Amino acid sequence: MTKRRSIIAGNWKMYKTVSEAEDYAVRFLEEVKNVTELDIILCAPFTALYPLKTELEESVVHLGAQNMSWADQGAYTGEISAQMLLDVACTYVILGHSERRELFGETNEEVAKKVQKALATGLKPILCVGENLNIREEGKAAERVQAQVSHALSGLSTEELGRMVIAYEPIWAIGTGKTASSQDAQEMCATIRATLTGLMGEAAEQVPILYGGSVKAENIAELLAERDINGALVGGASLDPLSFAKLIHNAAYLGVCAEGTE
Ligand code: PGA
Repeated sequence: MTKRRSIIAGNWKMYKTVSEAEDYAVRFLEEVKNVTELDIILCAPFTALYPLKTELEESVVHLGAQNMSWADQGAYTGEISAQMLLDVACTYVILGHSERRELFGETNEEVAKKVQKALATGLKPILCVGENLNIREEGKAAERVQAQVSHALSGLSTEELGRMVIAYEPIWAIGTGKTASSQDAQEMCATIRATLTGLMGEAAEQVPILYGGSVKAENIAELLAERDINGALVGGASLDPLSFAKLIHNAAYLGVCAEGTE
């Protein structure tokens, strides 16, 4: 089996003004314009999406948002709809990030509604799941992650499941400089794959599962070498265009080397 096509997604979180985003795009594209071995996604704050649409047009970089509403439109002050994201050329949307769950009280039910809405409108959800340190230490990490995956994906058709991207992000590894070991990350990604197999059979092999949590240029190759890790969701290390490009080049090089070896 050849290795699945990898995805490297940057999550800028609440960083970058419009002018900073534009400046980033110019410098970043210069570095990655010839990268065709993997899919590159930039998940930017809402205010930067429209300018990035212009900057990234016809480039190898796909645009994503970091959240959206489960509602179509209406009296939902402060919310952004799927249609609004499509309008600014987003193809992906991060849903259920642990910062949304922990700091803004997003529940599994809300995440599931958002996933359904994204799929219904044609956006590809990047569903984030992951356990905190207490849960890991109690030995309940797999149980927690399986529950998050099952909740978010319940009732979806095989075709819809095939348009999902899942990101495993252990909360204790986010922004801490403490990466999960590639074996631990692989183990959880394999658990997620098994949950997907239960829902959609063999087609689960094709669903990209990303790892996130202190991924950098130095550790990306080791993570991608694992069987069930198909890419990364990168926070802090995506904020500088040159270092993010370096991470992508390291990942692309590994992808080329891995082709045909499995
Ligand atoms: P980090 O964040 O790379 O800064 O750890 C990852 C994320 O939260 O998506």
